[in-house]
Amino acid sequence: MGLHPGTSLDVPALIGALTLEEKAALLDGADFWRTPAVERLGIPALTLTDGPHGLRKQAGEADHLGLNDSVPATCFPPAAGLASSWDPELLTRVGAALGRECRAAEVAVLLGPGVNMKRSPLCGRNFEYFSEDPLLAGELGAALVDGVQSQGVGTSLKHFAANNQETDRMTVSADVDERTLREIYLPAFERIVTGSQPWTVMCAYNRINGTYASEDPWLLTTVLRDEWGFRGLVVSDWGAVHRRDAGLAAGLDLEMPSSGGAGTRIILDAVRAGTLSEKDVDRAATRVLELVGRALRALGPGQGFDAAAHHALAREAATASAVLLKNDGILPLPRTGGPIAVIGEFARTPRFQGAGSSQVNPTRVDTALDALRDALDGAREVVFAPGFTGESGAADAALIEEAVRAAAGAEVAVVFLGLPPAAESEGYDRTHLDLPAGQVALLHAVADANPRVVVVLSNGSVVTVAPWQDRAGAVLEGWLLGQAGGAATADLLLGTAAPAGRLAETIPVRYEHNPAIGAFPGEHGHVRYGEGLLIGYRWYDAHRLPVAYPFGHGLSYTSFAYGDLAVTVDGRSVRVTVTVTNTGARPGTEVVQVYVTDPVAGVYRPEQELRGFARVTLAPGESRAVTVSLGDRAFAYWHPVLRRWTVEGGAFGIRVGASSRDIRLETTIELPGDDLTTPLTPGATVDAWLAHPAAGAWLRERLGDDLVEAMFLDPANGRMMRAIPLQRLSRFPGFPVTEPQVEEAAARFA
Ligand code: BGC
Repeated sequence: MGLHPGTSLDVPALIGALTLEEKAALLDGADFWRTPAVERLGIPALTLTDGPHGLRKQAGEADHLGLNDSVPATCFPPAAGLASSWDPELLTRVGAALGRECRAAEVAVLLGPGVNMKRSPLCGRNFEYFSEDPLLAGELGAALVDGVQSQGVGTSLKHFAANNQETDRMTVSADVDERTLREIYLPAFERIVTGSQPWTVMCAYNRINGTYASEDPWLLTTVLRDEWGFRGLVVSDWGAVHRRDAGLAAGLDLEMPSSGGAGTRIILDAVRAGTLSEKDVDRAATRVLELVGRALRALGPGQGFDAAAHHALAREAATASAVLLKNDGILPLPRTGGPIAVIGEFARTPRFQGAGSSQVNPTRVDTALDALRDALDGAREVVFAPGFTGESGAADAALIEEAVRAAAGAEVAVVFLGLPPAAESEGYDRTHLDLPAGQVALLHAVADANPRVVVVLSNGSVVTVAPWQDRAGAVLEGWLLGQAGGAATADLLLGTAAPAGRLAETIPVRYEHNPAIGAFPGEHGHVRYGEGLLIGYRWYDAHRLPVAYPFGHGLSYTSFAYGDLAVTVDGRSVRVTVTVTNTGARPGTEVVQVYVTDPVAGVYRPEQELRGFARVTLAPGESRAVTVSLGDRAFAYWHPVLRRWTVEGGAFGIRVGASSRDIRLETTIELPGDDLTTPLTPGATVDAWLAHPAAGAWLRERLGDDLVEAMFLDPANGRMMRAIPLQRLSRFPGFPVTEPQVEEAAARFA
C-alpha cells in the first residue's frame, strides 16, 4: 500500500474500527523491516531500517538475518568517530542528511543512534557507540536525533539499556546497582528522551538484574514513560522478544522483525485467558498508529537527495572526527619537498566502518592515497607500499621489505595501521587491545629505515599505542571515518584542515588497567558491573593510573591559553565563563571542558565528572569568552535510599580544562543542598538516632544524660557503641529502652 504524504490518521477512530485480531497483528512486524498494513482501513506499512551512521535499506528480499546488500547511501563516520568531534551542531547536520536519505528511500524510522556506554574497550560494537561518558553521549545523541527528526523521519534510540557487550548479548544479565544505572548507563537515554523525544526507543536484547529489557516494566514504563515522559513507541531489538505477553504488559509495543504470527497468537490467547487486558493491546496499537501518522506527514515518493553534498558533509564530519594524539612538529606535511612514502593497505583500501547491522553500502569511497596524490598534484612524489594485507591485517617479510625500501628512499613515511575488519563487529567482542603484531613489526622496520614517521590509525575501538608510539613523530587517531575519511585524512596531514577532534574515551596504557577486567564479559549468564560508577576516566582517575591519552585529549596545529575564569551562582544555576586565546600561528578549534568535583559527600563520588563543554574556533591571536551553563543535575547524585536525584549542599569544585588530565583553571563554589534525611528505622545505628532531631531528643531523654555520656560519648568505646543498631542494643540485658519502644518511636519519627 502506497504512502500518501500529508495524510493524517484519526487514531482513536481507527482503534475503534479495528478488530482485536487486527490490533494484535499491528504489534508484530510484517516482514524484516516493515510494520503491517491494514488495507481495509487505509493504514499503510512503515519501513524501519538501520542506521545509525548511514541508511542500510535492503533493496531486494531481506535474507533471514537481514544482512544482504543495501541501496547506496552516504556512509558518515560511525559514532566512535562522530563523538570525537564533540560538536553537536555538526551531528545535527549529519542527522538532517540521514533524514533526507531516509525520506528519499521512503524509510520512516532510522534505527539509531546507539548510546550505550563504552564499559569495556573490548566491546565489539564500541565503534557504534559514542563514549565512556554519559553526558557526552547524551548531548551528541540528542543532536543526531534532532537532525534526523527535523526531516519528518523518526529515530530509534538504542539499545535500551545496559547493552554494553556483545558476548551472550541476547541473554546475559547485566547485574548493576541502581545508582550506577542512573548515573552512568541511563543518563544518555534520559537526556535524549526528555530533550528530543525520539519517535521510538529500541529495547535491548539483554537482561538487567535478571529481567529481560524487553519485558521489564520498571525500565519500559516506570522510568521511560512515567519519569522521563516518553511519548513514542517501544520496538524490540530484532529478535529481542522473550515472552511476548509479558513484554506487551511491560511496555514493549512492537515486535520486530515479524514473528510469523507467533507473537500475535500469544497476545490473543493471553487476552482471551484474561491474563492480558485488551487495554494493553489498544495502548500499543495506538502507538503504532501514532507512529504511522507522524511518518505520513513527511513520506512520499519522488524525493531525492544530493549525494555530492552529502559526501562533502561526510568529509567535513570525518575531518572533525580524527584526533591528533601526538605531534613533534612533523605535521602538517609541507606541500613541497622530497618523496612521501605512504605505507599500509588501509591508505589504499580504507577501513571506514564496522561490521554488522550498521554496515552501509557507500555511494563512493575516498582513499587517503588518491587524495594525497590529488592534493599534491606532483609537487611531492608519493610512493606506496601496502605493508600488510587489508583483510587479515597481517604483514609478512616480503611486504615489510618492500615498505622499508619505500621508507628509506623517502623524506617522510606515513604509516597507516589499524584493526582488520574481522577484529571488530556486532555480535562478538575483542579479546585484546593490540594492533596485529605484524603491523607493529612493520612500523619498527620502517622507523629503523627512516625515523621521520607519522602513524595514522584506523580502528573503531581503542587500541594500545604505548608499546610502539615512541617510534612515531605524530599519531593521528582516525577511528573509522566513513566514506570520505580518505580525503579528510589527506586534508589533516597536509594542514588544509586543522585537527579538532578530542577523545571521547580514554586510551589506556594497557588492557589490564581497564575497569571491567575480571568482570567482562561475565560467566554463566551474568556480568557483574562491580566497578560501579567507575568506568572510563572515572576509574583511571580514582586509581591514579597513568593513561596513554586521557579522555578529552586532542591536539591541533596551534596552542590555546585559558584565562579569566569567572563563575556565577544563582540558586543552583551555575555559569562558568573562561577566555580562550589562540596563542599559535594557525587557526584552530579548542574544546573547553568543564568537570565538577564533589570532595565531601555522604556517598562515594568519582573524582571529577564532565558536566559541560563548548567548542570555539579561533584565528591566530584571537580571544573569546566561552560560557558553559550547569544546572542541578551537574551536582546531583542518585540517592540510593531516597531513590531520587539529590544535591548535597556544600562545596563543589569547578575544573576547566583541555582534557580530563589537563585542567587549566579551577575554583570552588558553595551550593545549597536538598534535605537528605532518610527515614529512621529501628535498625538504624545509635549515631543515626542521635543525629535525628526529634528521635535524638527522645532517646537522650529515655537514657538520661549520664548514660548517654558513659555509653556513647566515652572516648574509648563510644564510637563502637554508636555504630550498633538501636534495635540490637535494645535487646541487650539491662538496656533501658525495649525493642517495642524502639519500634514505636521509629514509626512515630519516620
Ligand atoms: C541490532 C540493532 C539493529 C537491528 C536491525 C540488531 O541485531 O542489535 O542495532 O538495529 O539488528 O538490523
